Amino acid sequence: MNTLECIKRRISVRNFNGKEVEREKLDAICEAGLNAPTAMNSRDITLTVVTGERLNRLNSAMKKSMPSSMHPNFMRDGKFDFVRGCKALIVVSFGTKSVLPEQNTGCVMENMYLAATELGLGACWINQFYDFSSKEVLSILCAEKGSRPYAGLSVGYYYVLPTPKQRDGKVVFLD
Ligand SMILES: Cc1cc2nc3c(=O)[nH]c(=O)nc-3n(C[C@H](O)[C@H](O)[C@H](O)COP(=O)(O)O)c2cc1C
Repeated sequence: MNTLECIKRRISVRNFNGKEVEREKLDAICEAGLNAPTAMNSRDITLTVVTGERLNRLNSAMKKSMPSSMHPNFMRDGKFDFVRGCKALIVVSFGTKSVLPEQNTGCVMENMYLAATELGLGACWINQFYDFSSKEVLSILCAEKGSRPYAGLSVGYYYVLPTPKQRDGKVVFLD
């Protein structure tokens, strides 16, 4: 797949079939993330790949740190599951030396979305880290002092690929 094709094919996938994601694929997605541009090339960035039992612990901690009024949005098969059954979650964090971390996060996340697409995996932006990274969440992520999670990317094999959404928006050429 070439780059332009990959960009057009990328979509957010929110249904995962439980198959484990190979380590080489996770490495490749992280490498793509680390190749993103960042403001002033500030590289105070950590990608934390969470799998296995730690992902269950993170799910419980996230449930606690989120207002209960939000829980219904994350229910799946009668259980709270904020990553919708994915087997791997990549959390993007920036430290205090980072310049424009929110913008950097967008670049890192899009690179990782595209890498997942190329590798035949589904992925979805998980924004809850931005607002609900409690001490317990940070502890489960083994976050270094001052490092703050900005987003997570759920990654996995999917049951069905959703229909792409309409992508409207204006393009204006001026001369
Ligand atoms: C900044 C940002 C935050 C997002 N947060 C979430 C989220 O918390 N949960 C979710 O399911 N999707 C989230 N998304 C995915 C968007 O809903 C999705 O990109 C959008 O609906 C367009 O669909 P597409 O990705 O399939 O093109 C987020 C996307 C962005 C760029």
